[in-house]
Amino acid sequence: MIHDASKDAGKSRREFVKNSGLLAGGLMAAPLLSQANFFSGSSDVIKVALVGCGGRGTGAAIQALLTKQNVKLVAMADAFRDNLDNSLKAIMGEAEENPTIKAKIDVPEERRFSGFDGYQKAIPLADVVILATPPGFRPIHFEEAVKQGKHIFMEKPVAVDPAGVQKVLAAAAIAKQKKLNVVVGLQRHYQNSYRELFKRKDLIGEITSAQAWWNNDGVWVRERKPGQTEMEYQMRNWYYFNWLCGDHITEQHIHNIDVINWFKGGYPVKAQGMGGRQVRNGKDHGEIFDHHFVEFTYADGSILNSQCRHIPGTMARVDELLIGTKGRIATGAGSITDNKGKQLYKFDSNTENNPYQTEHDELFEAIAKGQYKFADAENGAKSSMTSVLGRMATYSGQVIEWDKAINSGLDIMPKEFSWTAAPPIVPGADGFYPIAVPGKTKYI
Ligand SMILES: NC(=O)c1ccc[n+]([C@@H]2O[C@H](COP(=O)([O-])OP(=O)(O)OC[C@H]3O[C@@H](n4cnc5c(N)ncnc54)[C@H](O)[C@@H]3O)[C@@H](O)[C@H]2O)c1
Repeated sequence: MIHDASKDAGKSRREFVKNSGLLAGGLMAAPLLSQANFFSGSSDVIKVALVGCGGRGTGAAIQALLTKQNVKLVAMADAFRDNLDNSLKAIMGEAEENPTIKAKIDVPEERRFSGFDGYQKAIPLADVVILATPPGFRPIHFEEAVKQGKHIFMEKPVAVDPAGVQKVLAAAAIAKQKKLNVVVGLQRHYQNSYRELFKRKDLIGEITSAQAWWNNDGVWVRERKPGQTEMEYQMRNWYYFNWLCGDHITEQHIHNIDVINWFKGGYPVKAQGMGGRQVRNGKDHGEIFDHHFVEFTYADGSILNSQCRHIPGTMARVDELLIGTKGRIATGAGSITDNKGKQLYKFDSNTENNPYQTEHDELFEAIAKGQYKFADAENGAKSSMTSVLGRMATYSGQVIEWDKAINSGLDIMPKEFSWTAAPPIVPGADGFYPIAVPGKTKYI
């Protein structure tokens, strides 16, 4: 997030949006947000396109519509038409509960797009794009949205491999030049308790170590159906394939790892760890692990011990702990104590907010006021990279250095996107997928 008062704040909204489509220095003629988009039609409508109409995309679209601004959902894209239809139904259902948003839903048949290229048709129709597909596609979709000069809300993680991270970093730099607001769904940055703790982090002195947990039962499995191509099956059961999901250390545990990066004000220089799959061993479990334990080392020598586990019946905890020279911050408890255990600060849980809503409230308010306030993509990319670094460490069993990993060019995405194309990983004759083996799997 950047909170500098934008130079554009005093300009008219139309002017701001036009300018945000231009590269600094005027090197590229790209007023892509002009007539066809922002404020066209009615005077101050902010048009939204949703790309990736699953659970989170549907929720995010509703949150956008629930902001105070004059927002209109005008286009939707999903790889699968049934998912798009279900999402639209859910959004309409929400409108039944919440009549204020009914008039804000305007997605006729001609603005519903399915298939792998749906995003290319939906993005041009909007001023703000919500990107909520599985994370493997995020770099491609983010790059396109930035190219087209859109403001963006994108879910985490923002990439699943170093090549994707680099793509997002490059597009993030262009988004900054174009003054496009970008919010990433690492919502703890938008949550009151975390914000209050962050403001007071100096109470614990220098952070020398940290712990992060995402331990719980795990997530859904979408079983293979007769007639599905391998690509369709993996797209439906996306959690279990790294090119789509990044493994759960990336897909979920990124939240906790990102908090430590945020409070540390930097990213680890190396990682080593261990992991495997103990209960996630069926044919529908693809290739991901069910547990990882990673020791990340930051430039100042401080350590983050990170653990994530998806195993039913085990201790559940999703939390972070920061330990400093003078005390500790327990994020889940919302408390700061000194080294003797004396409480220095306690967050009042009655003042907690819904960060998913706040992300949209703040983003759309900034856009409506013509302010450039949010540039979350770079941190989103680097926290995604941190979690990928962890995966590379647990899969290989080696010490993996940040610089080598991020510059490795490792690219696990398919070369072709079509329902009949072969995904980058396919099952063997026995129906099982190859699994990383520490000590044998190599990255660098
Ligand atoms: N911030 C949070 O707390 C939070 C919570 C849940 C999910 N998420 C993130 O949101 C993203 C989506 O998760 P979800 O739970 O909604 O999954 P989901 O399976 O419910 O939805 C994903 C949707 O994207 C569609 N899709 C897949 N590939 C596509 C493509 N190339 N183009 C267009 N659509 C495509 C799928 O068909 C599906 O409808 C993930 O990155 C996830 O990590 C974040």
